[in-house]
Amino acid sequence: MPLIVLEGPDGCGKSTQAGLLTAHLQAAGRDVLRLREPGGTKLGEAVRGILLDPATQACAEAELFGYQMARAQLCREVIAPALAAGRWIVLDRFWHSTIAYQAYGLGLDPLRVRAAIDLAVGPVRPDLALLLRIPDAVASARRGARGAADRIESRGDDYRARVLAGYEALAASGDLSPIDADGTADEVSARIRSRLPATG
Ligand SMILES: Nc1ncnc2c1ncn2[C@@H]1O[C@H](COP(=O)(O)OP(=O)(O)O)[C@@H](O)[C@H]1O
Ligand SMILES: [Mg+2]
Repeated sequence: MPLIVLEGPDGCGKSTQAGLLTAHLQAAGRDVLRLREPGGTKLGEAVRGILLDPATQACAEAELFGYQMARAQLCREVIAPALAAGRWIVLDRFWHSTIAYQAYGLGLDPLRVRAAIDLAVGPVRPDLALLLRIPDAVASARRGARGAADRIESRGDDYRARVLAGYEALAASGDLSPIDADGTADEVSARIRSRLPATG
């Protein structure tokens, strides 16, 4: 059954939209699992704590493999079995974030990063992967309304600009399908629903 991925920079509305989409699918009688990366397994949540902790030091390569560690476990322990069992999955971030944040953001070679990603995800492929696209000022305002920045969020404007360039590269290559994420949460949710794959 479909794997729906929501991608985009911090503050673009992924978590908000994951909640709305999950509720919509459940109301339509679907068996839905909502997940986030990194996380979704005991190993993944532990890795998440390490990766997002502002007090943790991790070089670019260590950070890359940390995310793949969580991802490999999530794909095999949770995603693949759930899809095989006919469940829908709404996934808040997937491998695209690694291209944006670790390849473009930290300057790791995108081809070698792709090789690491391929190993981590195995045969799992999204049926729909959306880039929630909003003006940077809107995302900043939304982030500002939130609490303290985590280790990745606190890297500054240049880093964030490279991350956005990475997301646009993924949209240009067709790996992500862009959607206008400016507007009210309900407006954006309707746009996302209009992109859902048709299933019986
Ligand atoms: N369409 C929207 N309009 C206004 N505020 C929004 C909208 N979507 C989300 N927000 C708010 O913006 C902040 C960031 O949204 P969130 O869903 O956490 O984004 P992300 O998960 O992509 O970082 C939250 O405080 C959320 O309530
Ligand atoms: Mg979020």
